Amino acid sequence: MISKDSITAATFLILNFFLALPGYGNPQASKLHLMPMPYEIQPSEGQFRIGQDFTVSITGYRDSTLTHAVGRMLQRMKNKTGLPLQSAPVENKDTTATMQILCQRAGEKILSLNAEEDYRLEVTSQFIRMESTSPIGILRGLETFLQLIEIDHQSFFIPVINISDHPRFRWRGLHIDVSRHWIPMEVIRQNLDAMAAVKLNVLHWHLSDDQGFRVESLAFPKLHQVASEGNYYTQKQIKEIVAYARDRGIRVVPEFDMPGHTTAWLTAYPELASAQGPYAIERAWGVFDPCMDPTREKLYIFLDSFIGEMAKLFPDEYFHIGGDEVNGKQWNANPKIQAFKKRNHLLNNHALQAYFNRKLQKILIKHGKIMIGWDEILHPDLPKTIVVQSWRSKPSLADSLHQGYMGILSRGYYLDHMQPAAFHYMNDPEGKEPNALSEDERKLILGGEACMWAEFVTENTVESRIWPRAAAIAERLWSRKEVQDIPDMYRRLEPTSRELELLGVKPQSHYIRMLQIMVEDDNILPIKSITDLLKPVGLGIRQRIQKYYSFTPLNRLTDILPPESETARQFEALVDQIPAAAISQSTHVKKAKELLLTWQDNAKKTMPLLEQSFLLKENQPAFMSIAEACRLGLEAIQYLETHVKPPVEWKEQTTHFIEKLEKTPSETTITILPAIKKLMEAAQTSFID
Ligand code: ACM
Repeated sequence: MISKDSITAATFLILNFFLALPGYGNPQASKLHLMPMPYEIQPSEGQFRIGQDFTVSITGYRDSTLTHAVGRMLQRMKNKTGLPLQSAPVENKDTTATMQILCQRAGEKILSLNAEEDYRLEVTSQFIRMESTSPIGILRGLETFLQLIEIDHQSFFIPVINISDHPRFRWRGLHIDVSRHWIPMEVIRQNLDAMAAVKLNVLHWHLSDDQGFRVESLAFPKLHQVASEGNYYTQKQIKEIVAYARDRGIRVVPEFDMPGHTTAWLTAYPELASAQGPYAIERAWGVFDPCMDPTREKLYIFLDSFIGEMAKLFPDEYFHIGGDEVNGKQWNANPKIQAFKKRNHLLNNHALQAYFNRKLQKILIKHGKIMIGWDEILHPDLPKTIVVQSWRSKPSLADSLHQGYMGILSRGYYLDHMQPAAFHYMNDPEGKEPNALSEDERKLILGGEACMWAEFVTENTVESRIWPRAAAIAERLWSRKEVQDIPDMYRRLEPTSRELELLGVKPQSHYIRMLQIMVEDDNILPIKSITDLLKPVGLGIRQRIQKYYSFTPLNRLTDILPPESETARQFEALVDQIPAAAISQSTHVKKAKELLLTWQDNAKKTMPLLEQSFLLKENQPAFMSIAEACRLGLEAIQYLETHVKPPVEWKEQTTHFIEKLEKTPSETTITILPAIKKLMEAAQTSFID
């Protein structure tokens, strides 16, 4: 049996190495880790020292949104610094307070797209001033302020700085699917806190789908009674969430997906369907046939009542009707629907869906709501007031804009695809080409939304899939378009992730806690040094590897690994720095060798430990491949150092190894392969003939 302690020493080497990289622990490096990056910042010399006497006064307009926000800020300062600060703002107009907040006027009662989110922050060594047009701007500013807190040998402090900030886009959302896996209230609240921390301002709540209907309806109680398995929000809870979000400057847009993705509705009310029932809640993932029958007047009477009820519950002016992935099979198979299409000159199913949407849109208007839907709803018969959410392809956003519709972008912001933060970060709603859109078309872009679909997340894992990557999307939607420095984004993403942990969401600690459970030991460092080199694959690949259902446990390594390997990212950056010349003297080469040796060693030594855990056993092939990849990487470095041309067989063997790994279906990916490949390619081109 291998001692777990014997492999720990080498693992510390890895940690120490990364701590020595530029920006980590380097006192000269910029420490500001604001995210999203404000519009304008002017840092100066000096600090405002945070002491126990720190107080806040609200000197202008004052309301409960502001006092709650200041109270929360003081609590978070206490949590971070351990200082026994006052927990509420001091008396109005107390000009001796160390932080003075001036809000010019009341904001909107019901938040809208016109919310005034601008703020200015002035930090001197003596005092702090924050000013905004409306309370929502102050909320945004307080989040920036909290991100500025630093520590040095003397105290906690805020660097002297001037900030003037406002958002680039008005709609900066996070979409959470609570149908496929149930997400309880507590987790929604925590995500709202995290959203506020990075200035996201719309919770798009996907409340119904084939797998469950998640809201209590008094008008149609079978919806929650029959189609939720007891997992639904009561109306009281919905009101609580809406108020909680409002207090944090976040709008809540409900989505009731229709006419497709409606198995749950039809389980409760089969008479709304396009084919004979009965129906049962769907347990698998995918696109299913059950669909509302748009030719029946009774459907619209039902929806009028239902939307009337929900319109009162959700005060936001936008109401999401879904509209995605109608496969039309039930429509095609129903002669009455076919006859209806003929009679009404509806040439295809898209036209029939547009007919449905037109009628739905009128119901929404009657209840004071504006329609938003996925990009399938785009149809010239709908008025230009609707909003189209682009998800299928980038041009779908451009198509909407070209036709004069407002749009938000979600294509490229799907968190369940397990793309790196940089991928989402570089996905700009305006696209890359400078002149693809006219000025008028650009104005129609309201913003974007990160999407957390819930096929492969549970209430326990969802936060680590949303965060911290959604913070990079938040920056794309808030900050100037020109803010595009990927290494700097990553430099700030780590501390942002730590701030989110302090706030209660668990982007990092969930992985560590679950790994401790899987290993049944607190000392997870050796195994973690290897699992850190793995990442989960996106939903498409997982679904191809095995059939998943709503009751399939999501408790494996792939479910807890961070969506992106920070270790691999830094290792690749290191490999990229290896100079073509003077390789043998390169400190980078030395470090790369040390890392590869340690990983190779740890992978081999920890392999037997995997055997002892039913949840880890399946990862033995991955550990073996990591050891082999490290061995080949070390050989590549040796060829590089000695300037010897690698033999043809070596090239064949290494290429075969990588290709085989890339082709083998797996629910985890080895993240150092691109860097190893670079080393191999360098070895094959950098020899002296
Ligand atoms: C979607 O992803 N079906 C909107």
